[in-house]
Amino acid sequence: MSEQKKYRVGLGVCGGIAAYKAIEALRLLQKQNCEVSVAMTKHATEFVQPLTFRALTDTYVLVDDYDESNPDPIAHINFSQNIDLLLIVPATANILAKFANGIADDFLSSTYLASNAPVMVAPAMNVSMWNHAATQRNIEQLKADGVIFVEPVSGELACKTVGTGKLEDVENIAEQVMKVLSLESIVQSPIVSSTQDSRLKTLDLKGESLLITVGGTREAIDPVRFISNHSSGKMGFAVAEAAQKRGAKVTVVCGVTNVEPPENVAVVKAISAQEMFDAVMQKLPESSVFIGAAAVADYRPKQIAEIKIKKTVNDIFNLELEKTPDILANVAANRHEKLLVVGFAAETNDVVNYAKSKMEKKNLDLVVANDITQKGAGFGSDTNIATIISRSNQIELPLMPKRELADKILDEVLKLRAK
Ligand code: PMT
Repeated sequence: MSEQKKYRVGLGVCGGIAAYKAIEALRLLQKQNCEVSVAMTKHATEFVQPLTFRALTDTYVLVDDYDESNPDPIAHINFSQNIDLLLIVPATANILAKFANGIADDFLSSTYLASNAPVMVAPAMNVSMWNHAATQRNIEQLKADGVIFVEPVSGELACKTVGTGKLEDVENIAEQVMKVLSLESIVQSPIVSSTQDSRLKTLDLKGESLLITVGGTREAIDPVRFISNHSSGKMGFAVAEAAQKRGAKVTVVCGVTNVEPPENVAVVKAISAQEMFDAVMQKLPESSVFIGAAAVADYRPKQIAEIKIKKTVNDIFNLELEKTPDILANVAANRHEKLLVVGFAAETNDVVNYAKSKMEKKNLDLVVANDITQKGAGFGSDTNIATIISRSNQIELPLMPKRELADKILDEVLKLRAK
């Protein structure tokens, strides 16, 4: 039987009551043939002694680069360059804040910045700290930066409160680590071609940053009423999930939806077309692929009444509308050299021709045309029927789950990137 590959895991331990569980995580990973080296924050050493990890790994445990007993003068570089994955157990609110903001004021945070390996964090903290707007902002940022989260679970916390913030079971953390490591090693293997193993698809978008608009917009008429549409967000979220699973960093700019966003994507809420436009323009410089899956209102009320509009004796009520900014057209017009721009076209007739004319007018690389009159296609359903159109190709697809269509769209994006 061939010897199982030995993976190198850098285990970062932070100062929280769950620090002792890092010992269990370490043992589980060692049992899976991982070579684990340990870095601790200074506060972690208040909970567990470095000696415990040293005894279990037979290696010096790094806490402080500048410590006289540290045998390596450039430890954070050597440590960070010699691991296949950096795992943080438990990840405190403080370390998430440092990672999200590029603060490198101790050994572990410097290691994070210096490492090219995938990073997985398993947070554990008090529920209020977890729910705090600042922590949630940092989490969104880290997800957008490609950090993989093993989300904390709900339960009774060390502080005797009940809520989300409890470290996920270490068995599950170790399982997630092994999944990522085995996928990484397949991708990096020079002898495995992209057609040999379908799991490879999972990481073929590594290095890409996708910005995706999702759901419908809502244009206020007065404090009570609005103009909107039937988009559920399923199509856009399916693309986001597929892209994230294939290794891309994903940010969704999300209008009104009636399903939950997928895990490990950054979510920016934007309810009106103008809010969506502003959010997209802000995120665009850091994106390499833009996908406009949202159903954006083309028109909005010219004036939003400040107070509720009252019914009158008139049978007709006229509402004056003005154009909203066309997000997709503006993205394409302001594209940087590397950016690929993909649009959707929801049509009821002459579907392919209208979609092609949108591709021309808005200067798109790819357009996904869906005939929303067909059963199982378009708004709200879990399935869709689409034609993917590029300048040189047209692929007509049968009824399929939106999640499957998402992969087909991303396959075409990759083909364009290869050109
Ligand atoms: O969310 P689901 O329920 O899953 O439904 C999916 C969907 C039908 C909404 C989706 O598959 C779809 O077709 N999205 C685009 C719908 C649409 O508004 O198409 P459009 O033909 O009006 O717009 C063309 C393109 O321009 C779209 O990429 C749209 O996002 C974009 N656009 C339109 C207007 C505007 N002001 N800004 C834009 O960016």
